[in-house]
Amino acid sequence: MNTENKLIKDSQELLGKLKAHEEQVFSTKLKTNERVLARVTDGIYREPVSALRELISNAFDADAENVFITTDAPRFKNIRIEDDGQGMSVETLVHVIHNIGGSLKRTSNGEFYGVTGSNGNYSPKGRRLIGKIGIGLFSVSQLSQNFQIITKRSGDNFRTVATVALQQYNEVDEREADQEYESGNVNIWKEKVEDLNSHGTTIVLNNIRVQARETLTDKRFWRDFDINQNESQLKKIKPPTPKKYYIGRLENGKNAEEILHSINKDGVYQSLPWDEGTADDEKFLQMTKRVWDETLKSNQRPQIEKLFDHYFYMLWRLSLSIPTNYVNGDIFDTTDPDKYLCYHLSNLAKEQAKKFDFEPGKSIRETLKIEKINDNEKFKVSVDNIVLKRPILFDDLPKTKGRINKPMVFFGKYSENFGGKPATLSAGELKFHAYLFWNNKIAPVEHRGVLIRVFNASGTLFDETFLDYQVQEINRLEQITCEIFIEKGFDSALNIDRESFNYSHPHAVLLTRWLHNSLRQLTNTQKSLASSARTEQKTQNLDLAIDGIKQIAQKVWDSNHESSLISKPSVDFVKENTQISINDGQEEDEEEGYTDYSLNREILNFKSNERNTQNEKHRMRILEEKLKAIATVLISYGIFDLVPVDKRDEMLRAIYEIVQVEGNDNA
Ligand SMILES: Nc1ncnc2c1ncn2[C@@H]1O[C@H](COP(=O)(O)OP(=O)(O)OP(=O)(O)O)[C@@H](O)[C@H]1O
Ligand SMILES: [Mg+2]
Repeated sequence: MNTENKLIKDSQELLGKLKAHEEQVFSTKLKTNERVLARVTDGIYREPVSALRELISNAFDADAENVFITTDAPRFKNIRIEDDGQGMSVETLVHVIHNIGGSLKRTSNGEFYGVTGSNGNYSPKGRRLIGKIGIGLFSVSQLSQNFQIITKRSGDNFRTVATVALQQYNEVDEREADQEYESGNVNIWKEKVEDLNSHGTTIVLNNIRVQARETLTDKRFWRDFDINQNESQLKKIKPPTPKKYYIGRLENGKNAEEILHSINKDGVYQSLPWDEGTADDEKFLQMTKRVWDETLKSNQRPQIEKLFDHYFYMLWRLSLSIPTNYVNGDIFDTTDPDKYLCYHLSNLAKEQAKKFDFEPGKSIRETLKIEKINDNEKFKVSVDNIVLKRPILFDDLPKTKGRINKPMVFFGKYSENFGGKPATLSAGELKFHAYLFWNNKIAPVEHRGVLIRVFNASGTLFDETFLDYQVQEINRLEQITCEIFIEKGFDSALNIDRESFNYSHPHAVLLTRWLHNSLRQLTNTQKSLASSARTEQKTQNLDLAIDGIKQIAQKVWDSNHESSLISKPSVDFVKENTQISINDGQEEDEEEGYTDYSLNREILNFKSNERNTQNEKHRMRILEEKLKAIATVLISYGIFDLVPVDKRDEMLRAIYEIVQVEGNDNA
């Protein structure tokens, strides 16, 4: 077979050649079709939260320190996203518009356009980039058909403005198939500005699409709520409950104008998850605490999806996915060694986690030598003056009654460079660190599971299956929340929407194996701690019971013997025929070594073929103690001595049999 070396880019030319020649190989190039891309950008990001996440990620990649998102909630007609990042040059903006799907990030051209540093994987200021494909920005298409990009670099005396009008599907579908496809019209211009130093990018979304507005305003929920409420009035049944927290709802006023729906006569129209007057920076902490507080009330399984309306639920999910601070500190920054039971996870399949302590004042991060990736200290995002923080609490969790009274935290590190195997086989180096947090309760329910952050960003939420962990540990798994922080690799396992990943990717396979091995260690450690705590508790209870019984006998003796000179006689069970007994190794606190009243141990053998369980042993110990106390009481009143020696055992056995009766099946 012949091969023609010339590359044929034109379709017509290729077709002509193929028709004219058999048995000849021609080369061509794949082309991206904008139409396919437009479908991708319009279809893969389904919820408003995804679009906001993508825009925030772009601001992060542009080295922004602040992102301000403003909406006209609860109307949701307009949304504006403003950052103080490095902005775009005219060349970059034009490149972006003409190369959807052709990101400059992670390319050698990135530096020239000011999009990356000299290493294409990093931002100019050294952040590990989140973006890679060049479609994230167009996720706004699900929110609005028309949007505006306003961008300025420091030092420029102008800003560049582009307005984009996207084509709608139905318009597209009605076109002739061979007509050239355009995904949208763009107007672009420069505007003079005075302030040379300002920099950043603003995306303005006007006229939010009807469908997106319905989602954002939680329209379906409120409609169903109203229907149910009417129904409940008619049928005189319990009315439905609204979401506990909501940003407000609209109703139709006169002339079909939308007005706020008030909750009461004072014109209150919203229910916020924080106290009035709470500082912007504290709002998320309060919101998180309120969710945890639910566990103290009757709500054992608080679900954010049920507690919050779409808006707050969206903010919650958004804050989980962006690189930003935790509401009350990062667990790796913990410096108090008494706060948790800390364990170090082994990377080997047969080993167990090891408990570790650390010096007070030194953080866990320092102790375990864990690197910070994409430091989130310098990235602050707010939506409508609510500063977004990771709503994950590690401190001041509501106390629960469990036997293990502190959270157990398992820390681990993993790295694999595949011994220098080519990246095509190994997908390159993989490195990550993680914590697995065990607590009697995890709130909200949506936080049970594992969340994977790639370079500190995540489109996926907590996976409650723990990447399909097959071991039957339902109860224990519900008490675990876990975050894995990817430092190197894994990125290529992410699907393009960043909201799911390819489980068969070599890095995903390794990470899954590591996680399952870690879960095994956690559950083993937790189980053995819980069972030793249980045994300890039982022994304590037994000691308390025995003490109580002895005290009663002592009191009776004391009240019958004014003179403290006559001490309470010792009473004990001894083996038959041993009149003056030496302690037979039984737990005994009478120190003398001989017994004033030796009782026949045979008495206790009644029904002694009971199961030899821990519980049964404890029961027998208590019975024995009771019988000794009863004997002491009889001695105290002088009754015991009235009974002939050879009848005493008989009498005690009768009492013992009576005391033994419990009236349940096990007796
Ligand atoms: N806020 C911003 N500041 C500066 N440049 C931006 C901003 N948002 C987008 N850009 C530029 O527009 C480009 C396209 O953004 P887009 O989100 O579509 O793709 P990406 O971030 O490169 O990759 P991905 O599709 O993986 O997100 C970016 O590569 C960047 O050059
Ligand atoms: Mg992006």
